[in-house]
Amino acid sequence: MRKQLCAANWKMHKTGDEATAFVERFMQRVDSIPRSVDVVLCPPFTALHDVRGALAGAQGEDGRVKLGAQNMHWEAGGAFTGEISAPMLRSLGVQYVIVGHSERRQYFGETDEMVALKTAAALRSGIVPIVAVGESLATRRAGGALDHVLSQVRAALGGLQPDELRRVSIAYEPIWAIGTGQNCDPNDANEIMSAIRSCLPGLENVPILYGGSVKPGNIAAYTAQPDVDGGLVGGASLDPDGFAALAAAAAK
Ligand code: PGA
Repeated sequence: MRKQLCAANWKMHKTGDEATAFVERFMQRVDSIPRSVDVVLCPPFTALHDVRGALAGAQGEDGRVKLGAQNMHWEAGGAFTGEISAPMLRSLGVQYVIVGHSERRQYFGETDEMVALKTAAALRSGIVPIVAVGESLATRRAGGALDHVLSQVRAALGGLQPDELRRVSIAYEPIWAIGTGQNCDPNDANEIMSAIRSCLPGLENVPILYGGSVKPGNIAAYTAQPDVDGGLVGGASLDPDGFAALAAAAAK
């Protein structure tokens, strides 16, 4: 049986000190989260070191709460001012990285091609990419949600071998549900996520997360669906008590 995964996407929130305070509080709550649920914290780059240190202090180096990043460049190094590479993340103890978040695609011009390069680079460095896909409201209203999402998945992952595909995670995040309080119906989300799972050989057992206004009070309605393996959580991941309650409620 697949485990559940709850990933906290803090976006551009929390200084190092704020991140440390979150981890200290969250780790007091972690025993309330069933072992069937894995947890990943994705702070901004500037707080990765602090979160790593706070997690190591609370649980040892290889505990159940994992460290993730929100973005990376696909090259291992070079003249790319302001960018961060997968080997740099790996050396900070990063085990997961979100790639292709809709905010990266929308505000920073990330294309499907760039998402594919980042996904492959993360895998080469032994980092699990959480590949984010999702349709706009206009696309959904026009009836094109499924085609759009599957084309994003194929573009990001189509060049990988099945043994590489088995190491990815995917997040289905309808753009119109992100930060709006407007949830996707869990049955509709499951339909798309089930189609993602069967669109390429190798994805049968990967974690597929729902994202978009996930809260402690609605996560269970998603994870009750057969193809939903947890959540990628923005706003509701910023409070340690709330995020611990959310992760606890994600257990099947
Ligand atoms: P939200 O964000 O939970 O605040 O809707 C989710 C995301 O953007 O990953």
